[in-house]
Amino acid sequence: MSKDCIEMITSRQSIRKFTSEPIPDSVIEDIVKIGISAPSGGNRQPWRIVIVTYNELRVKLADAAHNQNFIAVAPVVYIVCAVPEESAERYKERGRTLYALQDTAALTLNILYGAHLHGYGACWIGAFNEDAVSKTLNIPSNMRPVAMIPVGKIDGELPPRRPRKNASEIVVQERFE
Ligand SMILES: Cc1cc2nc3c(=O)[nH]c(=O)nc-3n(C[C@H](O)[C@H](O)[C@H](O)COP(=O)(O)O)c2cc1C
Repeated sequence: MSKDCIEMITSRQSIRKFTSEPIPDSVIEDIVKIGISAPSGGNRQPWRIVIVTYNELRVKLADAAHNQNFIAVAPVVYIVCAVPEESAERYKERGRTLYALQDTAALTLNILYGAHLHGYGACWIGAFNEDAVSKTLNIPSNMRPVAMIPVGKIDGELPPRRPRKNASEIVVQERFE
């Protein structure tokens, strides 16, 4: 992997302060393209992405996310939905309860990187009322909204980096004792 590529991965950080400057449609679409290049169990791709730009809807999403108001400031919010039955068709319970969620997590992370690659800030939002989001966006009952990703131009300086545990605290060589 090139140094640039490593830098791209390690320099991503959550951004929670955006300007409301619109994002070009071509970039919004390219971020989706990067998102859906994520792996999924059996390549089932048990996911849907709702792209929200209407101000009124973004305000409702921020409310549903316990008033994380920066969500309403970002010009675009991607909502990643899992479709558990599309994984369960092949993988039964494991597909329904594990793969579908892992697949959508991989998609979410790719969207974060897609935004970062294009020079925009983004944040993975998991704390929200699923029923309120489903109601706001008319999400069908076989789909579960699992993550929101507000994306926008970064307003101001980058926030301090969040620390990581040392590898020595979390890596086990060969097997646990
Ligand atoms: C599953 C999940 C849920 C998260 N939910 C929220 C959230 O609701 N609000 C928020 O501001 N950040 C949320 N985050 C972002 C984390 O706080 C952030 O990734 C973590 O503190 C590490 O910081 P970094 O992304 O800047 O490296 C979430 C991240 C993950 C992976």
